[in-house]
Amino acid sequence: MVRILTLETTCDETAAAVVTDQLEVLGAVVASQDELHHHFGGVVPEIASRAHVERILPVIHETLQRAGVELKDLDAVAIANRPGLSGSLLVGLMAAKTLALVHDLPLIAIDHLQAHIYACRIASGRNVFPCVGLIVSGGHSNLYRCRTALDFTPLGSTIDDAAGEAFDKVASMLGLPYPGGPAIERVAKQGNPQRFSLPRPLIGESQRLDFSFSGLKTAVRYELFGPGRPEMGAAAEIEPQLVADMAASFQAAVIDCLVAKSVAALHRTGASRLCVGGGVAANSCFREAMERASQENSFELFIPPLKLCTDNAVMGAIAIERYRAGLFESLDLDISAGLVR
Ligand code: KG4
Ligand code: ZN
Repeated sequence: MVRILTLETTCDETAAAVVTDQLEVLGAVVASQDELHHHFGGVVPEIASRAHVERILPVIHETLQRAGVELKDLDAVAIANRPGLSGSLLVGLMAAKTLALVHDLPLIAIDHLQAHIYACRIASGRNVFPCVGLIVSGGHSNLYRCRTALDFTPLGSTIDDAAGEAFDKVASMLGLPYPGGPAIERVAKQGNPQRFSLPRPLIGESQRLDFSFSGLKTAVRYELFGPGRPEMGAAAEIEPQLVADMAASFQAAVIDCLVAKSVAALHRTGASRLCVGGGVAANSCFREAMERASQENSFELFIPPLKLCTDNAVMGAIAIERYRAGLFESLDLDISAGLVR
């Protein structure tokens, strides 16, 4: 049996897992930093990397203990080295390299976004390739053509804000807490999604598989405060029904864009499966809309349970595919903060 320790420190979760070549998860730990970033209304990179430094060793230790595995039993160590926050990525990379060097283990590099798609493979227990992959998180909104677990081609991405980032910023305008996605979903239940007719940017350009959420965010601001008026400090004065209606209208607009571009990507590639990852996939209206789209357009939809949608190291099991293919890295492996095209 092959056992790989996978590490994940791309953003603000410190996570580790031990996975096998049978895709069993022997042990996994996620240490969330939510409480550290909460009152800043977003992830503060400096705080995130320092927290990773504090947590990485206890997280690895706890993971090995849960897995009943010692370092000497491992066959490889894998690290998500792209994309993400530089300082955060470096902490995980240095930990992985040290383990590889000291215990003479092969080092495997993981693309964090590809790992999000692979979470569907793990959660379903089925082969999901070939497929279209959609990642919708606080930092990313990307579409991929995934021929195999080792062959991903980017189809499109956001040209400005990520979907989750737009949720977070609109929530802040509405006086709702961070993270904004769950807060918007909660109040939107009481809201009328038709009250405001907000734009669906790029939706008419069916040849283009990119997203844009910045203009939508500005449209919300203009509806609430008028053009050129500062929005901060005024949120408390917005009446609750207006907050609920705007949350519902905004949520519907984002979901329409995500569904339309995913369906267009499926048509473009001829794929019959859609694999979704990232925190926004926790949104129940999004899930329902995707389910409807999958029936109307006859594709198979894979969305993992929440704990595998948000950042975790279990999805790093994609490293097993690289292990089998003999794709190992040298100890001068670097990080890459941006998207690798
Ligand atoms: O994948 P994730 O946990 O972290 C990274 O960004 O890597 O995604 C977090 C994002 C946040 O922007 C949050 O507002 C959004 O996912 N989110 C949601 C929901 N839950 C989390 N967005 C919409 N509806 C939700 N229920
Ligand atoms: Zn992520």
